[in-house]
Amino acid sequence: MATVLSVSGSPSATSRTARLLRHLDRRLTAQGHEVIPLDVRTLPAEALLGADVRHPAIAEALALFDHADGVVIGTPVYKAAYSGLLKSLLDLLPQYGLVGKTVLPLATGGTTAHVLAIDYALRPVLSSMGAGHIVQGWFTLDKEIAVADDGTLTVAPAAAEALAQVVDQFSAALGSRTAFLAAAG
Ligand SMILES: Cc1cc2nc3c(=O)[nH]c(=O)nc-3n(C[C@H](O)[C@H](O)[C@H](O)COP(=O)(O)O)c2cc1C
Repeated sequence: MATVLSVSGSPSATSRTARLLRHLDRRLTAQGHEVIPLDVRTLPAEALLGADVRHPAIAEALALFDHADGVVIGTPVYKAAYSGLLKSLLDLLPQYGLVGKTVLPLATGGTTAHVLAIDYALRPVLSSMGAGHIVQGWFTLDKEIAVADDGTLTVAPAAAEALAQVVDQFSAALGSRTAFLAAAG
């Protein structure tokens, strides 16, 4: 099926956003997609902040975007927007680095006051980069994501249902795109 790059933009070592994405990755994998996880925090900081696109790890990350059919972009809400860490990587992509790609924007945050951060902050950035189709995203409250001592993730039922729905819509959009490309030869 499709190749999906699943990008977490949290700088936290115990990130709920990253754990949530890895949980959703499994749903996409079960639907037949090849899912490649990318935690921006694992990239070399000096190369990332110094915009060293020739650094092998940065070049490899940029190539992953290039080869992906679909991209899941997950970020914690920081100061009512996406994280600076996520933006530092997006800034290294070509201006139209998301052309032709299907994108699922996801955010986690501490307050519903910032539930629109995806639509007001993240979506315009993704759109400016030429994303072919940005499907409906979802904002999950941090308190709806529980992590047990053994690392097991539990998502509150209503949030889990909403997330499953947006992931399935993303998956269906990817399926339509790959079928279209196959028909176009
Ligand atoms: C520096 C910082 C700024 C934050 N700013 C906001 C904010 O403006 N709005 C909000 O809803 N949550 C805010 N939060 C809460 C985080 O978005 C929330 O806890 C998120 O789930 C953390 O995700 P993570 O565990 O993946 O890093 C902030 C947290 C931090 C550490």
